[in-house]
Amino acid sequence: MVHIELPPGCEPPAPRMLKAQRPIPVSIWQRLANEWYYSGHGDPLKLFGTLGTNDPVLPRAISADLLGREPPVTAVHEIGPGNFHVAKAIMGFVRAQAHRNLQYRCYDAHATSYTYHRHRLPTEGFSFMQKGVESFPALTREQEAVHVLCVELFDDTDTEHALLHKGQEQMLCVLPCLPNDTVMESRSLAASQLAHMGDFSQAHALLSDAGSTGLEKLYDADDIMAMIDGMDIERLRKVHPSFLLRLQYENHAFPLPLETSIGKRFEQADAPCLRYVRQVMEYFRKQLRSVPDGNAIGFPVAGVKFLWEMRDHAGARIDLFDYGYTNADLCHRDNPLSYSVFQGQLTSPVNFDLLKYAATECGFDARLEPTEEYILRHTGLDTIPLSRLLSNAEYACDRGKISSKDLKTLLRAFTAGSVLGTRDEDPVDDSHMNMRITYEQAMAFVDMLRGRGFLKQPVDMRRCSYHLSASRQ
Ligand SMILES: C[S@@+](CC[C@H](N)C(=O)[O-])C[C@H]1O[C@@H](n2cnc3c(N)ncnc32)[C@H](O)[C@@H]1O
Repeated sequence: MVHIELPPGCEPPAPRMLKAQRPIPVSIWQRLANEWYYSGHGDPLKLFGTLGTNDPVLPRAISADLLGREPPVTAVHEIGPGNFHVAKAIMGFVRAQAHRNLQYRCYDAHATSYTYHRHRLPTEGFSFMQKGVESFPALTREQEAVHVLCVELFDDTDTEHALLHKGQEQMLCVLPCLPNDTVMESRSLAASQLAHMGDFSQAHALLSDAGSTGLEKLYDADDIMAMIDGMDIERLRKVHPSFLLRLQYENHAFPLPLETSIGKRFEQADAPCLRYVRQVMEYFRKQLRSVPDGNAIGFPVAGVKFLWEMRDHAGARIDLFDYGYTNADLCHRDNPLSYSVFQGQLTSPVNFDLLKYAATECGFDARLEPTEEYILRHTGLDTIPLSRLLSNAEYACDRGKISSKDLKTLLRAFTAGSVLGTRDEDPVDDSHMNMRITYEQAMAFVDMLRGRGFLKQPVDMRRCSYHLSASRQ
């Protein structure tokens, strides 16, 4: 390929940004963006690492926990299984150690991942249903001792974002902005190209998950922005979801009391549920008062609803693993936003103390701990995810002394051969960055960085993911 260097001053003009006319509450935009993101095609989890995409240590700990329970757990219901790594690993561990098949039932709001991975999934004991977490409690109401597992689910689901500004309650909104040179194909056009290449199941998934077909055509930035301005969701569903990759966001906040922003989400609830929501909202209010003015935190609407609807399930046990924060973390936060954007998908780290409070209000016995403590308890391994160590080391390093690329190379070399567990399937690029090393080894790496004079400040070694267990006798 010939690369032509343009003389200074002849660079093509940077695209102009088209801005939406009105900000949209983060909660609404997150629900839409994630629905579009996960109903694309291919393997949606291939683009970013999650707690469960390929870490072999966490499923090992969960299996040891399951195998140690009395009476024995015979069925697991996993909601939001992503690329099914956790499902396959747990089924494999239980088979190897207890010589029996665990009944493993997966539920996901989207079938895209399932369509992509279905040929590599176990056949015995495994099942998949395209059902969202919202419908799970009703689906399992008659069942006793339901065991639920959710790994990185609630950071993706319905969350309201609020903040205090000079003591006034406000709701966080985003203003989507799109470069004016954006051109995007319709889902139908992309699906017909997939079908031409012989990939009929992916073509089908691209259309059926979005519940729409539509014309084979191209959309430009003006078309897409007009749909966003009109909140024309049905038409936006027809655009290929990769338009999300081009969006950028401005953040705005508007005065709105929690009773309206959050209360509105429970409008249809009966009196006992409203009492519960009021209690949880008061707890949230206290949390808001403990963070610096202008810092937003999340109210996990989907999680609060889920716990309420699971309260009558006799003998239920719910294990949630996710990125998020506890009350103790709130005062350390240096980011005033309560959401982040990865590959177009919006994620809201989970407000764990609030969910623990909600679980207790629903009558569950609730326990909250860092994921690493859970892993240590069940495997004896004191670990840290490599990706976490890398991002914290990047933050603490003096960029003038070591580039991000060199830091990554150094970490790779330092940990070569000592990443815990093995890749069992479909390694993605950089996949071992989502795996774990021992805490001791991580400290040795940090010492080495310090010794070479690369650090401008200490590396934060706090853990950032948590495990909430909620059980009911
Ligand atoms: C961040 S991924 C995590 C996947 C996997 N558990 C992991 O840790 O790699 C979130 C998963 O939840 C699913 N999901 C998103 N919203 C959902 C909902 N409302 N109900 C059920 N599943 C949902 C997505 O399709 C995806 O599989």
